[in-house]
Amino acid sequence: MNALFTPHALPALELPNRIVMAPMTRSRAVTESPDDATAEYYAQRASAGLIITEGAVISPEARGYLWTPGIYTTGQIAGWKKVTDRVHAKGGRIFAQLWHVGRMSHTSLQPDGQLPVSSVCSRSLNWPVFAWDENGRPAQVTASPARQLTVDEIHRITDEFVLAATSAQEAGFDGVELHAAGAYLFDQFINGGINTRSDSYGGAETHNRLRFLLETVDAVVAATGRERVGVRISPEARIHDGPGYEDEFNTFVTLAKALSSRGIAYLHINEMGTSQRMLDAVRQAFSGTLILAGEYTREKALATLEAGGADLIAFGRPFIGNPDLVERFRNDWPLTVADRDTYYGGDEHGYTDFPPFQKSEQRG
Ligand SMILES: Cc1cc2nc3c(=O)[nH]c(=O)nc-3n(C[C@H](O)[C@H](O)[C@H](O)COP(=O)(O)O)c2cc1C
Repeated sequence: MNALFTPHALPALELPNRIVMAPMTRSRAVTESPDDATAEYYAQRASAGLIITEGAVISPEARGYLWTPGIYTTGQIAGWKKVTDRVHAKGGRIFAQLWHVGRMSHTSLQPDGQLPVSSVCSRSLNWPVFAWDENGRPAQVTASPARQLTVDEIHRITDEFVLAATSAQEAGFDGVELHAAGAYLFDQFINGGINTRSDSYGGAETHNRLRFLLETVDAVVAATGRERVGVRISPEARIHDGPGYEDEFNTFVTLAKALSSRGIAYLHINEMGTSQRMLDAVRQAFSGTLILAGEYTREKALATLEAGGADLIAFGRPFIGNPDLVERFRNDWPLTVADRDTYYGGDEHGYTDFPPFQKSEQRG
C-alpha cells in the first residue's frame, strides 16, 4: 500500500492518510472573522488527513497583517464554528494555528498605534508586513520598531494563548498548533541571535530562550490536554531578520526533547533551509508524530515516509489549487498550479473556485 494512504494515529485522533494541509494565511477575513467562504474553502479540502488552519491571531496585539482572522472575540469564535462544523460534516479533522507575530507588525495595526512587542527592542526590520500606509491605504509597509516585553506581559501572552486554545475548543477544533516558526514571537525568544535578554526569558542559556514557549505549551496542555496541542518550528530558517546563532542546533534538539517528554500531539517542521542533520537530530529527539513541510511533491513525500523521515507530510501551495489533492495523489493525477496573485486577499477567485479533477482532463 502506498505510504501516503496508510492511516496514522495521533494521541486522540485517527487520520485516514498521511497528507496534511499546511497552515496558510489567505488574508480574506476583512471583518477579522472567518466567513462562509472560509468555511467552504476548508470544507472543500476535508479529505486531508488533517487540516491546519491559517494563523489565527490570539489578540489585537498579535496581528501583523491586515485581514488575518482572530480567535479572541465571540464573533470570531462563531465564524470558526462554522468552519469546523462544515469540515467535520464532511468527515475531516482540523486544528487551529494560534499566532502572535511579535515584532513582525506595524503601528497602524496595533492597539492605540503602539509599537509591536518582542523579546527585545528592535529597529525597523528589512521585512514588509501588510498594513495601512501613511495615507490609510492597505499596503506593504516595513515592520515597525519593537519594544521589549516585560515578564508580566510575557505571562499575559501565555494566558492569551490559553484563552485562544479554549476558544478553539469551543469553536469545535480538534486541537491547536502553536506557531513557533518563521521568526514570529516564540521564535523571537528562541533565537539566540535576537533574544539577548538578561533575565530568565533570554540570553545565552538555552533553557531561558525556550522558557516562554515551553511555559505556554504547559499552560495550554493543562487547559486542553496534551493530545490537542501541536507545535510548529522552523529551525535554521533565515526569514524576518532571524539570524543564525552558535547554539542553534542544540537549541532545537533541546526543544524537541522537551516537547517529546510532554507527549504532545505532534511536532511540525516548516523546512526553510533546515539541514538534514537538524531534521535527523529532531526526529531522534522527538518520539511523537513528526510532520515535515516545505516543497514536498508526491514522490518526495513518499520517499520521506518510506525512509522513516517523518510520519506525516504537510502540503501548502498544492492545496490551494487542488481541493481534492488527496484523490489526485491517490490516482497520480496532474495538479493545478494556483496563481500567486490570488494567494492573499481578494474574493472567492483563487480561493473556493478550483474544481476537483475531471477524468476528461487526463491526457493520453
Ligand atoms: C499563501 C501562504 C500562506 C502561508 N501562511 C502560513 C501561516 O499562516 N502559518 C504558517 O505557519 N505557515 C504559512 N505558510 C507556509 C506553509 O505552511 C508551508 O510551510 C509552505 O508553503 C511550504 O510548503 P509548500 O511548498 O507545500 O507550499 C504559508 C504559505 C503560503 C504559500
